[in-house]
Amino acid sequence: MMTNTKTSYGGVARSFHWAIALLIVTAFALGIIGDNIPRNADTVDTLKTLYSAHKTIGVTVFLLAVLRILWALTQPHPVPLHPERKLETLVGEVVHWALYGSLVIVPLSGWIMHAAEVGFAPIWWPFGQTLPFVPKSEVVAHAAAAVHGTVVFVLFGAIALHIAGALKHVIIDRDETLARMAKGYHGGDPNYAGHNSKLAPIAALILWAVVIGGALTLGQESHDDDHAGAEISMTQTDDAALASDAPEWTVTDGSVTFSVTQSGAPIEGNFAAWNAQIAYDVETGTGSTVVNIDTTTLTLGSVTSNATGADFFNTAAFTSAVFAADITRLEAGPAHEATGTLTLVGQTVPVTLEFTLDTDGKTANMQGTAALDRRDFGMGKGYTDESTVGFGVDVTVNLTAQLAE
Ligand code: HEM
Ligand code: HEM
Repeated sequence: MMTNTKTSYGGVARSFHWAIALLIVTAFALGIIGDNIPRNADTVDTLKTLYSAHKTIGVTVFLLAVLRILWALTQPHPVPLHPERKLETLVGEVVHWALYGSLVIVPLSGWIMHAAEVGFAPIWWPFGQTLPFVPKSEVVAHAAAAVHGTVVFVLFGAIALHIAGALKHVIIDRDETLARMAKGYHGGDPNYAGHNSKLAPIAALILWAVVIGGALTLGQESHDDDHAGAEISMTQTDDAALASDAPEWTVTDGSVTFSVTQSGAPIEGNFAAWNAQIAYDVETGTGSTVVNIDTTTLTLGSVTSNATGADFFNTAAFTSAVFAADITRLEAGPAHEATGTLTLVGQTVPVTLEFTLDTDGKTANMQGTAALDRRDFGMGKGYTDESTVGFGVDVTVNLTAQLAE
């Protein structure tokens, strides 16, 4: 039978239960594995695949969970097998509510974190990587990461209790609890009127409020250290380095890419993780910026590992590139220049980034390019001519920033 009765779980409820159980345990395992893999050039491809799988499975769990809950609302709920054991029944129910809550909160917080970040491991699906109402924002991403990272442990604890409970029913009580969920067996007294206790959902609600509140508060304090790493978004560093005291802008979206000629054809490189501190006064058209690029997050077509190797970005020894510059508006108009230095593989070289900036006073869109020569940084010493790797590297920076409150 597809539908529930007062004494049995129907095929639909059971399919949802086992499909979601399998997927959630897989997503959990991938999350823990990902959290324990060191982040460097050698692991970036693995991490990307792993997190894409994690997110895709997680989003599937979320969608199935919504369907499951809607389905459960239309169904009779099978009666407890031992309603006279009030405490045991209550504990079981609180755990079920905690599990139902996790099914929604865990993947949704992960999804919000993903949508708020300039992420690197996409969800494998054609419906885009953003979420309505979720801005690209480090603050939102960190809050969601704190919830995600904390609530999974409630989920873990609830699953452990849940499985222990199921085993107790098999081994000690030898009743139909597991067989009801596994095989659709009937069990319990169909005439039991139900107790309709609100205690279990209220207890679960309090649990959620405490855990999520705690995660948000603590997450705010400890901000990130280890956490932001996984999504490979970088933390703000070096506040002092920003020379100007013009109003500050927060980057909400953007990309840092470059193009280089390889064996005569251009290839595109991309840095997944970077951040920019920007101070800019719309009135005077002046300001300054410090851009920090995590070079270990470089992807360059099929030659990523060569590019991050000792001959080029040498990410084993240098993990970041820093561009520190003063911003000047060229004339009344969108054209600007950021003149400063780029420090890369231990070499500091003067660099000018030319860019256009359109702003309505609150939001700014900038598009810029800088032409570099790899030899200035001593990169690719083994490639003395341009037949394999060109000398010129065209860097493109596109970003959107909001005036910080
Ligand atoms: C069934 C759903 C899910 C489960 C059980 C789950 C579980 C986990 C676990 C155990 C971790 C490692 C703990 C940690 O790093 O704090 C993790 C990290 C992560 N998850 Fe999920 N997750 C789920 C869904 C999602 C979804 C839907 C997304 C995004 C679309 C997502 C994105 C992430 C990211 C980016 C991280 C690393 C973030 C960090 O370290 O702060 N997760 N997840
Ligand atoms: C090996 C793993 C698991 C076993 C043996 C198991 C077993 C069971 C059993 C026997 C029931 C019926 C309880 C009753 O009749 O009162 C049940 C219900 C439930 N299980 Fe699991 N389960 C497992 C994993 C999971 C996981 C991973 C989740 C979700 C994260 C989950 C979520 C639920 C929920 C929400 C219910 C309540 C269904 C309802 O009555 O509406 N289970 N499970």
